[in-house]
Amino acid sequence: MRKVGIIGMGHVGSAIAHALVQEGTFDEYVLIDTKVEKVRAEALDLEDALANQNGSYKITVNDYAALDDADLVISALGHIALQYNSVSKDRFTELPYNVEQVQKVATQLKKTSFAGVLVVITNPCDAISAFYQKETGYPVERVIGTGTLLDTARMRAAAGQAFAVSPKSVAGYNLGEHGNTQFTAWSTGSVMGQPALQMAEAAGVDLAEIEKASIVRGNDVFDAKGYTSYGIAAAAVRLAKVIVSDAHEELPVSHYQEAFGTYLSTPAIVGRQGIVAESSWTLSSDEKEKLAASAKSISEKFSEVVG
Ligand code: 2OP
Repeated sequence: MRKVGIIGMGHVGSAIAHALVQEGTFDEYVLIDTKVEKVRAEALDLEDALANQNGSYKITVNDYAALDDADLVISALGHIALQYNSVSKDRFTELPYNVEQVQKVATQLKKTSFAGVLVVITNPCDAISAFYQKETGYPVERVIGTGTLLDTARMRAAAGQAFAVSPKSVAGYNLGEHGNTQFTAWSTGSVMGQPALQMAEAAGVDLAEIEKASIVRGNDVFDAKGYTSYGIAAAAVRLAKVIVSDAHEELPVSHYQEAFGTYLSTPAIVGRQGIVAESSWTLSSDEKEKLAASAKSISEKFSEVVG
């Protein structure tokens, strides 16, 4: 019996719940939100879908004790009014508020016997992943941020458009912060199986433009829609399925890195107990410098608020 908890049933949490229900990945959903009427309504709405779709599932609302035997818990809490700073366009504007919320959630989680994987979407994703791990005391490998898994999908979409191919024919990763200091590691990139750098030269495609698009796309969606949901929901669903099926798939997710003393995204092997192993990518010296700079930025901004 597969069970998932989703904490924070706003635009992102409800999009994830709906996507997972349609995928039929879990048998039970524990939906938690401080807005009691809202989360109850989300549960009713999802139950209204049952008769017209495959599979079956049970929904529990606002019961942390029901997380005792959950396979994973997804933190999608946030504050939409703080999520988007039109001046800085920096996800760290949300840190002070979300630190307070995470302290309350961690207190509740520690009362349970939850022993699954905590997946963090809450922004700033890398810093909040580090804070959840600190506050819950869960082993570092069992606390994972969606990190640049979403940004990598955005890079693949932009590259697909530039090369006129499906994003599924583009490989490679955005790495570092799920934020402004991330970068596209083109040394890991390929288009239709050919090295991205080589394909770009042959096709006259500007890889810097693709990288920029992948980094700012979240802001573009925010500007027009007021939030983002489908892209992050698809990333969370993919990560949840890899965890619960113990797939041992390589994904660019935010995880604790001893070398940097913080969470940030590099390729890692993910399975039932979270991070199974680091991937042995050989980044270029320029990419290694960008990764270190991203880690430094995350650590410095985290320390400014959390100490
Ligand atoms: C995004 O990039 C909200 O951080 C999330 O869509």
